[in-house]
Amino acid sequence: RSLRIGLIPGDGIGREVIPAGKKILESLPSSLGLSFSFVDLDAGFDCFKRTGAALPDKTVKTLKEECDGALFGAVSSPTTKVAGYSSPIVAMRKSLGLYANVRPCKTVLSPAFASPTKTPIDLVIVRENTEDLYVKEEKTYPDPSDPTGKAQIAEAIKRISSKASWRIADIAGQIALRRDKMRQASGSGTSHTKQGMVTITHKSNVLSQTDGLFRSTAREALSQPHFNALKIEEQIVDKYYDVIVAPNLYGDLLSDGSAALVGSLGLVPSANVGEGIIIGEPCHGSAPDIEGKGVANPIATIRSVGVMLEFMDLPDAAEVIYKAVDASLAEGKLVTPDLGGTATTQQVTDDIIKRL
Ligand code: NAI
Ligand code: MG
Repeated sequence: RSLRIGLIPGDGIGREVIPAGKKILESLPSSLGLSFSFVDLDAGFDCFKRTGAALPDKTVKTLKEECDGALFGAVSSPTTKVAGYSSPIVAMRKSLGLYANVRPCKTVLSPAFASPTKTPIDLVIVRENTEDLYVKEEKTYPDPSDPTGKAQIAEAIKRISSKASWRIADIAGQIALRRDKMRQASGSGTSHTKQGMVTITHKSNVLSQTDGLFRSTAREALSQPHFNALKIEEQIVDKYYDVIVAPNLYGDLLSDGSAALVGSLGLVPSANVGEGIIIGEPCHGSAPDIEGKGVANPIATIRSVGVMLEFMDLPDAAEVIYKAVDASLAEGKLVTPDLGGTATTQQVTDDIIKRL
């Protein structure tokens, strides 16, 4: 099978980790019968400054018309409003129908660094990608209670639809079923009670209409007969999770939190999944504090290559990558500074390639 992959490094360390992801694809064992061609695509703040567009039309058009999959690095976003600039990743998810952000988070025990949790973690966060506060409908107006007219009020719309809630819960259910199947096939996994469970995350005790709609729709979607084998729960605080389904904002926060629980943001991958193209994307940002030093951890991106392949129906190729990453971490000789080591992006990448 011959596949065309778009490469969108974006800003900052995106430019250092996306080449690592590309090298992994080029180095997959030939026995998998896959060949890859690549197309470089532009997006991000730097691109905006150069061209006036954060997400050039050509990038979207090429992804839609030419690519089977893509890898997206990260983009920098200024914390204050810059006229005409808006985050390209949000726009890209929208224009390509990428309604789910799937974020697996897994502990690998390594002599290089201590596990931040007593119990190893192995869970997937399925984040809704198109709505919630990310519709970015905001306004600022004078506070009517302030006679001086100086005080302001700012508001943002949190939009939840039953359509988006249904499809995100449905894909979370499918992922939970697949994880169960994979565990059974490999005979792996302890038998903790949360395996085969989807946890619906919400705050419908406070936001009874928006989160209430998310909750009831997700429950309904997950009660379809083909999900009979799954257990469903809601946001009960517990040590163990298998698959967590969440609206956009909570999904983002939960996955950054889970990243801390496995050791570093530099370890956590994701894939944007929807109606067509699959886009792999590390969960981290452009990391300006370590940009240009060649020490960004490439593992989040390399695992994202795996997640991309998984959703392109190439689970064997994904498994080869996951195993190589796990083996490298388990040996723990070459890890980047975020995990307490001194290895470079290049050295870690080469160590993983050696194990493919
Ligand atoms: P960040 O993820 O870029 O960095 C947070 C911390 O984690 C930093 O100390 C960084 O050095 C470290 N880190 C992140 N990835 C790493 C890696 N692969 N290896 C080693 N260390 C790593 O988040 P931050 O600092 O909040 O944001 C920086 C910029 O990135 C901002 O402009 C923000 O808007 C953007 N950003 C973009 C995202 C995206 O493109 N999807 C997501 C999050 C932030
Ligand atoms: Mg984030």
